[in-house]
Amino acid sequence: MPRKTTRVKPAEKASSPPAPRIPLRITDTTLRDAHQSLWATRMRSEDILKIIDVIDNVGFYSLEVWGGATFDVALRFLREDPWERLRSAKAKAKKTPLQMLLRGQNILGYKNYPDDVLDHFVALAVTNGIDIFRIFDALNDTRNLEYAIKAVKRYGGHAQGTICYTVSPVHTVEEFVRIAKEQIAMGIDSLCIKDMAGILSPIAAERLVSALVRETKIPIQLHSHMTSGMAVASYVEGVRAGAGAIDCAISPMAGFSSQPPVETMLAIFEETTYNASLDMEAIKAMRRYFQELAPKRRLSHHQPDNIIDPEVLLHHIPGGMISNLRSQLAQQDALDKLDEVFEELPRVRADLGYPPLVTPTSQLIGIQAVMNVLAGERYEMVSQEIKDYVRGLYGRPPAPINPEVRRKILGDEKVIETRPADSLPPMLPTATQGVDPALIKSEEDILSYCLFPEPALEYFKWRSLPPEKRPPSPADVELQKERKNAQSEAAAATSAPRPFLAPSDYAALHELVGKVRELNLTELTIRRDDLALVLRADGMATHKETSSAAAPVKQGTPAAPPPPAPVAPKTAEADTTKPAAPEISGPTINAPLSGNFYRSSGPGKPPVAKEGDTLKADDPVCIVEAMKLFNTIKAPFPCRIVKFLVEHGQPVKKDAPLVVVEKV
Ligand code: CO
Repeated sequence: MPRKTTRVKPAEKASSPPAPRIPLRITDTTLRDAHQSLWATRMRSEDILKIIDVIDNVGFYSLEVWGGATFDVALRFLREDPWERLRSAKAKAKKTPLQMLLRGQNILGYKNYPDDVLDHFVALAVTNGIDIFRIFDALNDTRNLEYAIKAVKRYGGHAQGTICYTVSPVHTVEEFVRIAKEQIAMGIDSLCIKDMAGILSPIAAERLVSALVRETKIPIQLHSHMTSGMAVASYVEGVRAGAGAIDCAISPMAGFSSQPPVETMLAIFEETTYNASLDMEAIKAMRRYFQELAPKRRLSHHQPDNIIDPEVLLHHIPGGMISNLRSQLAQQDALDKLDEVFEELPRVRADLGYPPLVTPTSQLIGIQAVMNVLAGERYEMVSQEIKDYVRGLYGRPPAPINPEVRRKILGDEKVIETRPADSLPPMLPTATQGVDPALIKSEEDILSYCLFPEPALEYFKWRSLPPEKRPPSPADVELQKERKNAQSEAAAATSAPRPFLAPSDYAALHELVGKVRELNLTELTIRRDDLALVLRADGMATHKETSSAAAPVKQGTPAAPPPPAPVAPKTAEADTTKPAAPEISGPTINAPLSGNFYRSSGPGKPPVAKEGDTLKADDPVCIVEAMKLFNTIKAPFPCRIVKFLVEHGQPVKKDAPLVVVEKV
């Protein structure tokens, strides 16, 4: 263990030569993990480009700038091209290597991709500016890392392998060393211990790093989060045991569920033999910049509740996942079930073979726990992704899956034993089939589309508009809303509640009601601020009249509430001159969860079922995407599809009728 020394003061230099100092490498995560952990990934390219030349002068070992969430959020919320962000960052940061977090065979997404997509992605990431690839697999299944490691080496990048750190009966030091050795055999250049939840204790860090140093020669980097408050101590113990690199963020972007602050770590190591030699003036400029930026970017719902959350040491759920669970339960109007979900989650994790909780397993396990609690029966509702997981399509879980649970989810279906991507045909040749070729501008666009089809397409369409016609990005809308909320909260104390409709609105409303009938619309929504008035005609209205025929439909949820009252226009003329909407009657299949309704599994894909189709019980009908996972809605009994009540891509509330069917 290195000897603790006091700092060598300049005056002493002449008489006694300074003790040799061991270089300590520091990766800055401010531009990726820190804002993902603290700002829901809302840092913009302009925010980065204004400061990156300063950051480049600090002397960091690398800058983490890219990952799955940054890519997704850029397209989905910021209406930015993530590739363009990378290129412009690279143009300004000429000295410091740029680093990304690559989810192995999952690339940046939530499922395995075929090798051709992974290969092309790595090639383009290198061309656009990534130097270091931190490659991880949520299950620590090295079969999912091998192709990515080889591709990174082939294109001249630095391949950093990863151990996803977790605590379970099967995750021992010996097991982690075994996983590291497998990755070393695959050709990694360095190894990261990735503690995504912030649960790596100082003693565990010391033991794990010591064992890795003893049994391998690979350079080791520590990545942790401040969630439980232990990360600073764990870094110190890990470095003293032989880890040569740590991940930090600038102090305004550190702490809470983000990384330890770089300034703190420097102060600690300054009194030791370890030397990070960073430029303190550049760090100061960086700190000032993010101090000023933080209040502009951090929304009220981004801020974690606690500076330190010791409960993470009990439930091991990463910070980002807790806020996700909370917002997803809120979407399902079930926030009161949070404690039940916390109790259910470790049971689901044990049933499914103790996967480390990191993207995508954190979503899979978390949402399955939510579904088990909401449905009131365990594994009654199961997402497509969980089925794939149990089938082996994500890889080999650290421990065997509970056989009873497997049978309930899969029946007699076989589990695949080979590397999951081996069963995936090449995807690039037909990747953008069905997409307007005018929207695709580059090879990079094809990759964006492969990885995030819906958000990428939205972004391409938005980009294709003349700049003055582009609507504000969802992130801008969010910011405006937040500011408005803050203003109206301030004004709330003095102003009286405002009615939804002003008297002058009624004339317009009458006209609209007439339009609804004339156009035979199913639904017309009038919005004002956060309130929505929904008018329904046609199917919905007549469905109400015949709703006594509707049978309750089981989808693991209670039967639908009565449909909204029929629209009753006040003008006599509307009643007599307009033809009545065609009658549609029959039982409905309702949304088991709030989410987005889809007729097909992706752009260009055929609909899951069409009007007029006759289905057997359990045949797929449509899809409700809830909590980022796709739930196939199945026919509860043999039936014929009469009419879909919701349009593809529209949001639906839990229990909303999706489709009228006829029993056969
Ligand atoms: Co992290």
